[in-house]
Amino acid sequence: MKAGLVLFRVTGAVLGLQLVLGGLLTFGFISPEAHIVVGFILFFLAIATMVAWLTSKPPFRLMQRLTVAIVVLLLLQIILGFATLNSGNQAIAFLHFMTALAIFGATISGTLIAMRQGNHPPRSEVPSTT
Ligand code: HEM
Repeated sequence: MKAGLVLFRVTGAVLGLQLVLGGLLTFGFISPEAHIVVGFILFFLAIATMVAWLTSKPPFRLMQRLTVAIVVLLLLQIILGFATLNSGNQAIAFLHFMTALAIFGATISGTLIAMRQGNHPPRSEVPSTT
């Protein structure tokens, strides 16, 4: 599923940038704007990735569930991010950090599964030699 594979890699790269921006923000090197803009770009990329996998033929159930979970986690992450920004509450900031770890883990897993599927396509996609 080519579009899904490419989109997953792009999402992973933007996520890497977002984690770096989060760290820079936490330690006061930057103001929140760049982190917020990249957060929304990431959210729309994750939606596009999810749509690509939900409409792929044949359906790949594991990737479908994983991409839906990433979109839900990102929505939660954005809500937690704005709650942190508005309240300065360290407990919410900690939850924001834990959710980032979950998003990171899910994205890495998805990229590896998608790459593996690219190397070993389902039987229905393997061209017949006979
Ligand atoms: C778009 C809305 C977002 C807002 C308003 C937001 C806001 C914030 C704020 C205010 C901090 C600093 C917390 C502190 O200094 O105590 C922070 C840190 C961080 N953010 Fe976000 N964020 C957003 C989206 C995201 C997304 C989508 C991710 C990753 C998937 C992310 C990952 C991180 C990480 C890893 C940190 C550093 C650890 C931490 O302090 O939690 N953020 N964010």
